[in-house]
Amino acid sequence: MAVASAFSPFHLRGLTLRNRIIKAATFEGMCADGMPSAALVEHHRQIARGGAAMTTVAYCSVASDGRSYDTQLWMRPEAVAGLRELTAAVHYERGAASIQLGHCGDFADKAVIKGTPIGASRVYNRYRGSYPRVMTEVDISRVIGDFARAAGLAVEAGFDAIELQFGHGYLISQFLSPYTNRRDDRWGGSLDNRARLAVEIARVVRSVVGAKVPVLAKINLLDGFRGGLQTAEAIEVAVRLQSEGIDAFVMSGGFVSKSPLFMLRGEVPVVQMAAAQKTIMRKIGVFMFSRLFVQEYPFQELFFLDEARALRKKVNIPLVLLGGIKTRRNLQIAMAEGFELVGMARALIHEPDLVNKFASQSKDSSDCVPCNECVGAMERGGVECMRREAR
Ligand SMILES: Cc1cc2nc3c(=O)[nH]c(=O)nc-3n(C[C@H](O)[C@H](O)[C@H](O)COP(=O)(O)O)c2cc1C
Repeated sequence: MAVASAFSPFHLRGLTLRNRIIKAATFEGMCADGMPSAALVEHHRQIARGGAAMTTVAYCSVASDGRSYDTQLWMRPEAVAGLRELTAAVHYERGAASIQLGHCGDFADKAVIKGTPIGASRVYNRYRGSYPRVMTEVDISRVIGDFARAAGLAVEAGFDAIELQFGHGYLISQFLSPYTNRRDDRWGGSLDNRARLAVEIARVVRSVVGAKVPVLAKINLLDGFRGGLQTAEAIEVAVRLQSEGIDAFVMSGGFVSKSPLFMLRGEVPVVQMAAAQKTIMRKIGVFMFSRLFVQEYPFQELFFLDEARALRKKVNIPLVLLGGIKTRRNLQIAMAEGFELVGMARALIHEPDLVNKFASQSKDSSDCVPCNECVGAMERGGVECMRREAR
């Protein structure tokens, strides 16, 4: 069979994408008090103008207690008008807009949520230095309802697709992972039980968004440490989610409180991380000790390809290959390997119009380093490339 071009259109449920390249969610840090801003609109307009088929608004919390930053989007009726401006701007540039909905569970910042973070089990969160409150049945059904309500509001705001954040060590991933889920009720123990929250959220979101809107799920192919979710189990979960009507998987890995750089690879941005801390003590602490708990993983192109191939064999819905995609050749490899779509994050932070340059063949490779300093920037006023001069 002929291999598709990454620059050919693709149909995902009721949505036609102009090419196969999706801007992966990268937390923008541009939403004071959880509300959309002109900067957020402009950021996504630039991505759409730069040629990506679909941009993804990142890390939108479905509830007040799902936030880890006060600059994080929080889905409420008041946010809809601002988000409508964003989707209109993206559509004007002939792009599609997706929104990533999630809840960060035990990763929530106490000062931001003004309370104790909730989690699957009482497992110490090293990053926050605290234990979550164990979720009750009432909490769990409330969160499922929050996802449904947020998805409904996202459609009202004009989003073309919904992306559910089921990975990276946030709440749903905390339930999936044996490391953070020690429950002995119907939400813990067996893989079926650990996957129940993801399955129920997928089901309810599918039912509220209507037949035309694609629902993607960002999943961990593996958590990236011993005792976490491994690929064989991740694949079983994906098979279940496929039968709940998920339209595509965005394939990632890593666990924010345990193996954060596993999802990125490359340099540990120690100076930037320290600068993002609010108090001088935390700045010093992060500067001195971050290397102890933030492991460095060498960068390589297509760094999730092996695990993604294993999932490709087991599911037949579209798959978004993500992780270290930075050349035209990487795009061709992704297509030749049988992935319908690709996700790009840092290369498009560095150069939002890289897709247009790839399409016109005026450029073959991104100059993104990856220094990961954009991670520090997102916590200090807005995600951006700190090494723009390299362009
Ligand atoms: C600054 C920054 C912020 C990120 N924020 C998010 C996020 O909010 N949600 C998410 O799912 N992934 C987030 N990621 C991970 C990316 O979506 C992506 O999975 C990762 O960067 C690997 O893709 P890349 O090699 O193309 O950069 C972030 C990455 C970076 C660099």
